[in-house]
Amino acid sequence: MSATESSARARDTLARNHRTGFSRAAQRHYDFTCPSPDSYPFQWAWDSSFHAIALTHVDTRRARDELRSLLSAATPTGFLPHMVLWQDDLRPRATEDFRIDLWEGWRSVTIAPPVVARAVERVYRATGDNLWLRRVLPPTLAFFGWLREHRTSPGTGLLEIYQPDESGLDSSPKYDGALGIEAAAEGAVRDAWHDAMRSLITAYSSPARTPETPLRARRLFVWNDVLVNTVYADGLACLARLMRTAGANGRAANGRTADRLAAESGAIGAALMRHCWDETTGAFHDLDLVAGKRDGILTAGSLLPVLLDSVPEPAARRVIEQHLLNEREFWRPHPVPSVAATEPSYDPGFRTGAIFRGSSWINLNWYLYWGLRRRGYRAEADTLAARSCALVAASDTTRECYGPEDAAGHGARSFGWSSLVLDLAAAPAASTEEG
Ligand code: GLC
Repeated sequence: MSATESSARARDTLARNHRTGFSRAAQRHYDFTCPSPDSYPFQWAWDSSFHAIALTHVDTRRARDELRSLLSAATPTGFLPHMVLWQDDLRPRATEDFRIDLWEGWRSVTIAPPVVARAVERVYRATGDNLWLRRVLPPTLAFFGWLREHRTSPGTGLLEIYQPDESGLDSSPKYDGALGIEAAAEGAVRDAWHDAMRSLITAYSSPARTPETPLRARRLFVWNDVLVNTVYADGLACLARLMRTAGANGRAANGRTADRLAAESGAIGAALMRHCWDETTGAFHDLDLVAGKRDGILTAGSLLPVLLDSVPEPAARRVIEQHLLNEREFWRPHPVPSVAATEPSYDPGFRTGAIFRGSSWINLNWYLYWGLRRRGYRAEADTLAARSCALVAASDTTRECYGPEDAAGHGARSFGWSSLVLDLAAAPAASTEEG
């Protein structure tokens, strides 16, 4: 029942949030799904990647166009921005509403978690469209090369981010210490976070700034994020499979690229085990490279590496059994909270008004669903899919996030990536996530 209702909400959102037109600033046509008409009217990279996956269940033409539009914003150096502000009429307001530094006037200078590779693979598997693949694969590969070249920490081999929103987990309490806002009272967290972000962006800001401007040496915020690195390693594995598919069509060089990408994916998994795995807590923790320490807060991101084949089975089982399925921490009535319920910063009722501080998010549930499946927890995965659908069905429109204790909808309305329930509803019948 809730699968039918949640699918109806998802379809409605995908129809309502569709945006097409011509951007004078970018001199390109666009065709994408915005995260939310009121709150987020532009194209956001990881949102769009999730939208494309949801669209494979609704309209595969739109799924292909979504990613083509996104990838058309890549620069000649291979960089793919977090935000693409196509619409000329809405752009002037944007720098006030969103804390961003623009590059060439219409795209952000920051990155997002590279979900795009997983999305390209899913859309290709759903359509078998080789012509489309030949168009979107080169910029996707180029972006992964850009990340390796410009964002690898020399000491750990992991990708680094230079501001919290590059992980997409903007106000997660794990960043409070690095931003100097850990003492903010509950009612002041949101403003304190915005002030800290504004200072960071102002400090980075310069007319000469490009996506490649080196920021590590500034030591303002340098962070190895577990979620970003898991998505990156997963994306490398997706690209390796896609290159093997292309290799099967006759080119030996593609097979060699596939081997290299698979090895890189494995190396990121190994680096996560070496630097982020905490044998005491049985979970993964981010690294704050400025403070030179591991962050201690248990978040949904701490669980995500169970997705990766390169993470050994005993570690994955500990994460799942001690944390994900632990009713005191993450297996709450409406899982999965973005912060463990045992953390002092846990904010299930959205009292701070700040995101990723405890609410449940459908995109994180979606990754964890496939993680549970991959590790053989089929019944638990099905429960998570059903509860995610129930969450979305419980509000009158798709919401940005949901209360893990009471299923209340919070944040933006008609929110795009909650439409991933379409994939979760169809998933029990799918043999693998690549299928
Ligand atoms: C918020 C989220 C970010 C997302 C964006 C658009 O900034 O933190 O992850 O991409 O909204 O939905």
